[in-house]
Amino acid sequence: MTEAGGNFSHRPVLLDEVLGLTGSAGERYWVDCTLGGAGHAMAILELAGDQARLLGLDRDDAAIAAASARLAAVGDRAIVVRSRFSQVDEVVQERQYGRLVRGRYRVDGLIADIGVSSEQIDRAERGFSYGRPGPLDMRMGSEGETARELIERLSVNDLATVLWRYGEVPRAVRVAAAMKEALAAGEAETTTELARAIEKAVGSGAKRSHNPATLPFQALRIAVNDELGELERLLAQLPELLDMGGVGILITFHSLEDRMVKRRFAELTQGPVLPRGLPVTGGRRANFELAERGAGATEREKGENSRARSARIRAIRRIAWEA
Ligand SMILES: C[S@@+](CC[C@H](N)C(=O)[O-])C[C@H]1O[C@@H](n2cnc3c(N)ncnc32)[C@H](O)[C@@H]1O
Repeated sequence: MTEAGGNFSHRPVLLDEVLGLTGSAGERYWVDCTLGGAGHAMAILELAGDQARLLGLDRDDAAIAAASARLAAVGDRAIVVRSRFSQVDEVVQERQYGRLVRGRYRVDGLIADIGVSSEQIDRAERGFSYGRPGPLDMRMGSEGETARELIERLSVNDLATVLWRYGEVPRAVRVAAAMKEALAAGEAETTTELARAIEKAVGSGAKRSHNPATLPFQALRIAVNDELGELERLLAQLPELLDMGGVGILITFHSLEDRMVKRRFAELTQGPVLPRGLPVTGGRRANFELAERGAGATEREKGENSRARSARIRAIRRIAWEA
């Protein structure tokens, strides 16, 4: 792992599984909702051949810069846009990207490898890491409230709800109160100080498999970046972005997100639900089929990349219109 220079050097998570879903070469339109260092994006373009194009989004300026530099090698086959993926449909329609089918622009593939990148965690000044001192920021983009502002604004109870909902943090009220007190006393100016305040609140005697700040930091990060709201809006837009045969690939890193993807994909692949008692004439074919059902990384990949340990991949493919 590199220090402040950033770390976009990892092999993209679940790359073989992603490439197995990309289909044949040819004139294909891809959207990468989470460009990061453009690892998946480059690999997809290389596999799909000279006629493939890719529109890549990221909310983070540093990722946009890194991805643009890497994708310069493919010239105008790649377009890079700084945007949250909850606005992916707007970006696609405004730019008239893809193929105009049934009144809207649609694509052959969309991938989202969501969450925080190794490069974001590695840069202490982004404030994601409790291991090295950084500001209480945790924003992936440059807009919105920082972690510090969030802790200051919420009441102890509301902060505890955030900690419980997004991190299942044990003794959430006690941890929330400790965070607010430490901040008010000027004793949590950095991520490492906040982590110490959390540890003090829960005691350091208990046997633990991970640092007591892990789950509270995860919860704060999810809240600061509205990660579940972003995912929900992406999942709402996904189906109408896919052309016939198009695949939507989601890689998630914790059970809250995976559950949302699983549920949405189940809805989309189960076909129309008819009112009870209505005679079923013809098939009840859904518009989508499951193309990947939640596989994780191989033991080998987990050994090589700790981020892959909790990764899950799910995908759908369009097989019909308006079934
Ligand atoms: C794990 S990295 C992606 C790595 C990339 N697949 C690669 O191969 O290099 C996740 C990226 O998604 C971005 N991201 C997370 N949530 C986002 C959102 N709601 N909208 C846009 N980008 C987002 C982060 O800024 C980060 O750069």
